[in-house]
Amino acid sequence: MAPVALGEVVAAEQPRLSVGIGEFDNVLGGGIVPGSLVLIGGAPGIGKSTLTTMALANLAAAGRRTLYVSAEESAPQIRLRAERLRGGDALAIPVIAETDLAAVLATLERERPEVCVIDSVQTLVCAELSSAAGSVAQVREVAGTIMRAAKQLQIAVLLVGHVTKEGALAGPRVLEHLVDCVLQFEGERERTYRTLRAIKNRFGSTNDAGVFEMRGDGLVEVLDASARFVGEATRAPGSVVLCAMEGSRPLLVEVQALVSPSELVPPRRVVAGLDRNRVALVLAVLARHGGIGLGGADVFVNVVGGVRVEEPGSDLAVALAVASASRGVALAAGAGGARPLACFGELGLTGELRSVAHGDRRLAEAGRFGLSGVIEPGGCATLREALRPLAGERRERSLARVG
Ligand code: TYD
Ligand code: MG
Repeated sequence: MAPVALGEVVAAEQPRLSVGIGEFDNVLGGGIVPGSLVLIGGAPGIGKSTLTTMALANLAAAGRRTLYVSAEESAPQIRLRAERLRGGDALAIPVIAETDLAAVLATLERERPEVCVIDSVQTLVCAELSSAAGSVAQVREVAGTIMRAAKQLQIAVLLVGHVTKEGALAGPRVLEHLVDCVLQFEGERERTYRTLRAIKNRFGSTNDAGVFEMRGDGLVEVLDASARFVGEATRAPGSVVLCAMEGSRPLLVEVQALVSPSELVPPRRVVAGLDRNRVALVLAVLARHGGIGLGGADVFVNVVGGVRVEEPGSDLAVALAVASASRGVALAAGAGGARPLACFGELGLTGELRSVAHGDRRLAEAGRFGLSGVIEPGGCATLREALRPLAGERRERSLARVG
């Protein structure tokens, strides 16, 4: 085959299929590309079946041929979920409950849907392989076969995959190279907020993320998540607002910490919504450069609402929340502590505050909610300086100190 100069390659821009959920379309890069394979990974119970059912319902309502293949739930179970969803269009989606890969392929060939959901890649089985459903060999075979069918028949496939909390399970990880897009649906099952983000996208950026709320009638986009989280922020000791970046968008979230005397050696470190190792690093820097040693205390750190923040810009928020909790001093700003204090910044190992990407947008987002006096690398060079708002009340509140 003769090479062709890139400039002479014809790139036909295919119109995308809108899933009718703005945040979902965004994360996809503007809708589903016909014939593409999108893997949606997430922990059990996070809402993958709900999200994909809602997408198919909208596509069906827009006149697209759809198909929902469930290898997990029976048709009556899927119907029960569909009945709960807002709108009611979901009842128009054709479904099959089938675990046999060959049978699913036959249906795809016969029905030729434009968009198909396969729920899930771990529960479909290829009868020719002896290994159990969900094993690496099975998952590879199932995904590979589905991909070939999708390309050949021009079916866009939303492939659901389970990921354990550690993200380790055979499945999504071994498939990342194979599919066109990998979307991750994250959050805590018990909480209402979830984020959908692209970690690989051949047809768009991996910068976008959407925030959803699980309600009684399905998932609802949270269009101004910052407003929600700032409004709910407690302003109590141990709470601080973090100006985070969720993809390319700024997002204000509340970070909370609790510090309590421990009887355990080593003491507990319980972290939700943040990287554990990053929190451990912040605690070490806090002890060494902030004068707040917590070797004898249990420390709990949490991003409120079940949102996950995985970026170094969260370091300072963890440090301030923990310091505030440890001292028993609230970090509120404004007259009478009317507004929550906001911050962002990365902590270096020598106690310096390092700048992070999009500082201006983070500040602008805080400004939108009247959060001035943001503690950030532009105004503060070190952790010690950043801790100053807590220092004044140190002596009188020393009883609240732990460790
Ligand atoms: P589900 O989509 O089944 O999760 P997954 O496919 O990722 O395992 O739904 C997860 C949970 O959401 C389920 O425990 C019930 C709850 N839920 C609601 O709260 N509201 C709803 O409208 C629906 C459909 C589910
Ligand atoms: Mg499911």
